[in-house]
Amino acid sequence: MTLQGKTALVTGGTSGIGRAVAMKLAHRGAHVIVTGRDKRRGEEVIAEIDAQGGNARFIAADLANFDDVRRLAGAAADVDVLVNNAGVFPGRPTEQTTEKDFDLVFDVNVKAPFYLTATIAPRMAARGGGAIISISTMAATIGMSGLAAYGASKAAIEALTKSWTAEYGPQGVRVNVVAPGPTHTPANAAMGEMFDALTATVPARRGADPDEIAAAVCFLASDEASFIYGAVLHADGGRVAV
Ligand SMILES: NC(=O)c1ccc[n+]([C@@H]2O[C@H](COP(=O)([O-])OP(=O)(O)OC[C@H]3O[C@@H](n4cnc5c(N)ncnc54)[C@H](OP(=O)(O)O)[C@@H]3O)[C@@H](O)[C@H]2O)c1
Repeated sequence: MTLQGKTALVTGGTSGIGRAVAMKLAHRGAHVIVTGRDKRRGEEVIAEIDAQGGNARFIAADLANFDDVRRLAGAAADVDVLVNNAGVFPGRPTEQTTEKDFDLVFDVNVKAPFYLTATIAPRMAARGGGAIISISTMAATIGMSGLAAYGASKAAIEALTKSWTAEYGPQGVRVNVVAPGPTHTPANAAMGEMFDALTATVPARRGADPDEIAAAVCFLASDEASFIYGAVLHADGGRVAV
């Protein structure tokens, strides 16, 4: 499953699932561009990839800021693999969701991937192909209290994946989704018993390690997935199946 000679952009590569994806893509031979807002964490990931003999660089960008999205899209326009992973997930009842919360969720989770793809996918198509993988969630498939705006933003990414498959698939660009279940990342570290309650509803009866989600992403990025277009791969321990 080598990615030797490929270049990959991983948004939200400074933490959690994105960090694991960046490490694994680099391990498989890709040159990885890690992006996020936090320069210190970004440089730590780059140093770790370097220490393991991989090749990576960091570009700081705030995906809630459209100027940054445009700048990042320009700087990483010619990647072979785009992983739309950066995400925000404020858990809040609908009536307590402010306009600011709502806009942030849709800016980072939908608008930024939309415009990164708008720059990168046509250039992949012009070169004969590429792979785009976006990270969704089980909350896009099942109703989860407190996650309405978040679930809707990820359902939007799943719908975009189908549209992009129709638009760019014929030119060799494979666009797919990985939809994780509860995963042990810094974002969930403070959830405590709520995280345990969530994993109790998962047939696998545990949360995922970020590495298990990264494995699904790397598979979809690789030629092993050469006939997989427009799919949602549920890496959720079986949660949406039951
Ligand atoms: N953990 C789970 O249980 C789970 C389950 C299903 C789906 N997911 C999805 O998986 C993805 C990663 O989640 P995670 O758990 O790994 O979260 P995490 O540890 O909090 O990491 C989130 C990443 O997104 C980046 N990010 C957040 N806001 C950003 C912004 N405004 N601009 C640029 N980057 C931004 C962060 O980078 P900086 O802080 O450096 O900006 C960080 O690298 C998300 O899309 C999430 O919805 C997670």
